[in-house]
Amino acid sequence: MNTLVINNQKGGVGKTTLAVHLAWFMAESGRRVLMIDADAQGNATDTLKRHVGETSAAGLFQTGARIVASGDSGITLAPADSSLTDVDRGSAAAVMTLQQNLVAAAELFDICVIDTPPSLGLRSVACLVAASHVLAPIYLEDYSVKGVKGLLQTVIGVQRRYGREGMTFLGLLPSNFNTKSPRQRSHLEQLLREAGKYVFPGHIVARDGYAEAVAERVPVWSLKRRSAQEAGREIRAVLAKIEERLDEEMTGDARP
Ligand SMILES: Nc1ncnc2c1ncn2[C@@H]1O[C@H](COP(=O)(O)OP(=O)(O)OP(=O)(O)O)[C@@H](O)[C@H]1O
Ligand SMILES: [Mg+2]
Repeated sequence: MNTLVINNQKGGVGKTTLAVHLAWFMAESGRRVLMIDADAQGNATDTLKRHVGETSAAGLFQTGARIVASGDSGITLAPADSSLTDVDRGSAAAVMTLQQNLVAAAELFDICVIDTPPSLGLRSVACLVAASHVLAPIYLEDYSVKGVKGLLQTVIGVQRRYGREGMTFLGLLPSNFNTKSPRQRSHLEQLLREAGKYVFPGHIVARDGYAEAVAERVPVWSLKRRSAQEAGREIRAVLAKIEERLDEEMTGDARP
């Protein structure tokens, strides 16, 4: 089982939009998906609530959690609730617990997708420790681009401190990208110049369909409107590339 953590401590950059579409995409291609919503805001939980499983996300940060695959929809959701914030105040030893619990669930699922909160507490670190792969959506505006260095340092820090050299950083993924904005385009060019090897080869374009899709609790490609269909084609191409990278042997390239 691969564990893909969608992480950026900056808020509103498109983490949840990506995470839920990844879960839908992987399930449609026949994979058994464990979706963990580690964000107490519970946005992914709201969108995927019909897939809710027996174990809560908070439970997975406690020793000896038992995970059961639910139903035949392909997705099992470990839902968020307000007790998730307690994890950040708990013992530092909990940083390894999620990883240990996921090892025990490795035979039940093909892929685990983890949506993380916009903060860097013990919970987010525990998610990074559990990751086989990390993907970081970024928004191409000033503060977000400036925060990239800190983001990469966090990933490197976790790899070193917790001996997670096997973790692959898939890259920074420009999201909610307004391709017509000269400012956003110049931010992307700057990013490619300065940190090109950490940038994922693709981006998610800003399109109206995403908010509607998430509110309707369906993937954007299942909405009828032409603009949503266009968004669907675009994001599926990105998701297919992510899937390809997950299927590859860990080659070591693009690791910070
Ligand atoms: N590609 C896109 N096109 C248009 N709107 C988008 C796109 N991606 C995200 N959004 C919108 O941007 C907002 C933030 O997105 P999202 O909730 O996915 O970000 P997040 O990083 O999970 O936020 P948080 O840090 O609060 O959890 C939402 O209103 C969402 O609908
Ligand atoms: Mg979110």
